[in-house]
Amino acid sequence: MTGAAMKQIPINDAINLKFPEWVGFLITCDPDAGNKPNLMPIGWMMCCSFEPPMLALGVGQSRYSHQLLVKSRTCVIALAGEGQAELLRRTGTCSGRTVDKFQELNIPFRRGLQAGCPLLTEAAVNFECEVTDRMATGDHTVFAVRILAAHAPDHPIRKLENWGGNRLAPAVPL
Ligand SMILES: Cc1cc2nc3c(=O)[nH]c(=O)nc-3n(C[C@H](O)[C@H](O)[C@H](O)COP(=O)(O)O)c2cc1C
Repeated sequence: MTGAAMKQIPINDAINLKFPEWVGFLITCDPDAGNKPNLMPIGWMMCCSFEPPMLALGVGQSRYSHQLLVKSRTCVIALAGEGQAELLRRTGTCSGRTVDKFQELNIPFRRGLQAGCPLLTEAAVNFECEVTDRMATGDHTVFAVRILAAHAPDHPIRKLENWGGNRLAPAVPL
């Protein structure tokens, strides 16, 4: 055998070595309540098809957002902009079941064109999506979503990245 020494470590410690990772918001709407919107931070997402353009999202089955995504089958994924660290912290520690996050946190938004969910004007980019498939994976569900439209600010906004341990920092220089 050759190479550097290696030891077995706890699986959760190993998983934490994946950081930094993308971070953004999953925005959903309740079709039974006049399309009232909700949002939650999401880190578990990746591109999974060029043609058609698609993302895969890992959403905990206990989340209110999970319930809305199953019901409405549409969402917006907004990659967090550099000014949205506090919004990530605040929207990730409460549930839309009990808090109207858009109203209470006075979140700036614009109407979406395709998915019926709002776009975040302070995000680095917004993707309007529709759910095409889903698969239960342990305590989460992986949703496959097709990107219908994308929106970026006229003046580019730097993306935030999640470095783990509640540390968020801008991703790359413009
Ligand atoms: C930085 C960050 C990343 C997160 N990533 C995910 C994720 O990928 N999937 C998930 O189910 N929850 C994730 N969460 C947790 C949810 O955002 C959190 O439970 C939220 O309060 C759920 O809100 P809801 O009940 O209104 O849907 C994350 C939280 C933070 C702060």
